[in-house]
Amino acid sequence: MPPTAIPMAPGENLLGHAHHFKLDRLPFFQRVAATGDVVAARMFHRTFHFVNGPGVAHEMLVEKARSFEKAPGIRILLHDLAGQGLFTSEGDLWRRQRRLLSPLFHPTQLQTYVSAMNGEALRARERLEDGERTDLAAVTTRIAMGVVGRALFDARTFDEADELGEALTIALGWVNDRLGTPYMTLQISAVEATEVLEGKLPPWLEGVRARARAALDAPIFMPGRNDPTVKRALTVLDKRIQAMIDDRRASRADRKDLLTRLLYARDADLGGDGMSDKQVRDEANTLFIAGHETTATALAWSFYLLARDPAARAKVQAEADAFGPDGPTSYDPEKLAYTTRVFKEALRLYPPVIVLPRRALEPVELGGHRFPEKSIFFVNVYGMHHRKDCFADPERFDPDRFSPENESKRPKSAWIPFGVGPRVCIGNHFALMEGPVVLATLMRGLSFEVEPKDIEPETFATLRPKGGVWARVRRRSAP
Ligand code: HEM
Repeated sequence: MPPTAIPMAPGENLLGHAHHFKLDRLPFFQRVAATGDVVAARMFHRTFHFVNGPGVAHEMLVEKARSFEKAPGIRILLHDLAGQGLFTSEGDLWRRQRRLLSPLFHPTQLQTYVSAMNGEALRARERLEDGERTDLAAVTTRIAMGVVGRALFDARTFDEADELGEALTIALGWVNDRLGTPYMTLQISAVEATEVLEGKLPPWLEGVRARARAALDAPIFMPGRNDPTVKRALTVLDKRIQAMIDDRRASRADRKDLLTRLLYARDADLGGDGMSDKQVRDEANTLFIAGHETTATALAWSFYLLARDPAARAKVQAEADAFGPDGPTSYDPEKLAYTTRVFKEALRLYPPVIVLPRRALEPVELGGHRFPEKSIFFVNVYGMHHRKDCFADPERFDPDRFSPENESKRPKSAWIPFGVGPRVCIGNHFALMEGPVVLATLMRGLSFEVEPKDIEPETFATLRPKGGVWARVRRRSAP
């Protein structure tokens, strides 16, 4: 049977679908997901494809992962921030770095970070006054930044979380503003033009082509990169992290933080040597960025969803109250089973990372369609998480979707807030531990009267609650 034609996403105009990325990204992603498992769309002159079905997502990200790389836009946008870190690197470099970093996220290692998770939540708890009105999105951002800061850089050197956090927010804001702009499309076209010429030029021009291609990994067509505020933010990040590296190299202190472990990680591929300072800095920046905003927004959404469901809130409260006054100081998944379901359901309804961009490294078949080399795809995580045929009554908050029985019935790769396959989030177990530990620690000592209003999601670097999650804080007497 000849393959059916790939449907076009609804709402196309002269410029394609670019306007939907700016104006109504989330409803658009849902409409696209309802259109089919693979759907075409256009950004100015460039056609790309949305992958909306769990089966096709699995085929792409797991079974045929070797035929794809991350789309070049990601590398360009994160170039100044995360360089060649794990999130953005490819090929042999990525494989080596993943091998070097994986032991740091092994389940036995993760236990060592629980005290940072519980400790940062306790610190936040102590700072909040009875009766105070606060934005829980800001509270959870501070906590998650503190957690990853302590895990990465050691608590003693992490007093300036605010300075690093502010620098990071400025730099990520710049990245976000450039998503889906004509500059992005222009630069990707330039990347493609230099790639098309590979092997077709006389030798004396090949060097020029290769240099141009390498230069295009940095965001050269994009305005604002030289804006003094952005520049300052990038310098602060670089300098602070380099200072921490210097400190550890000088003292050879026997610290247990991730940075020290990165510095002393050894790999046969490096001839027993470690990573360069630049590579360590890229990895540290990557872990710092990837490791806090995602978890913080998922936590903020969890509070919002619990506020609207008293029965679910009571169950989380009961789990929290079964701990001592400080909440969970060690991690036992059984004791946080329902809280974990809530956190997972928040990740379904509001996945912090809404799309996974990929580019085909070779001609490839996907969902029964043939695609040429260099085709661009967006795995539509948000759209898929809201599909009726993946999750019944998808807009309803129902933590029990994540009971073991229900999880085993779900199609493979229908719930992918952390991605799936070889590029799956290296911090997924870290986050699934941190979310419940922080929720339980906060709720053990405080209750939150969240303002009863609907909160819209807004797409920043992650899917944030627009305007924050405002709540009146109450100190709880011992249960
Ligand atoms: C709720 C929290 C989190 C969410 C939703 C999340 C989501 C993701 C997603 C979707 C990817 C894969 C992107 C792709 O395939 O294109 C990813 C990769 C990654 N994440 Fe996370 N993440 C979270 C927490 C963390 C934490 C806590 C860390 C580290 C401390 C972390 C570090 C990374 C790194 C280094 C990668 C790149 C992995 C690779 O390509 O090998 N993430 N994350």
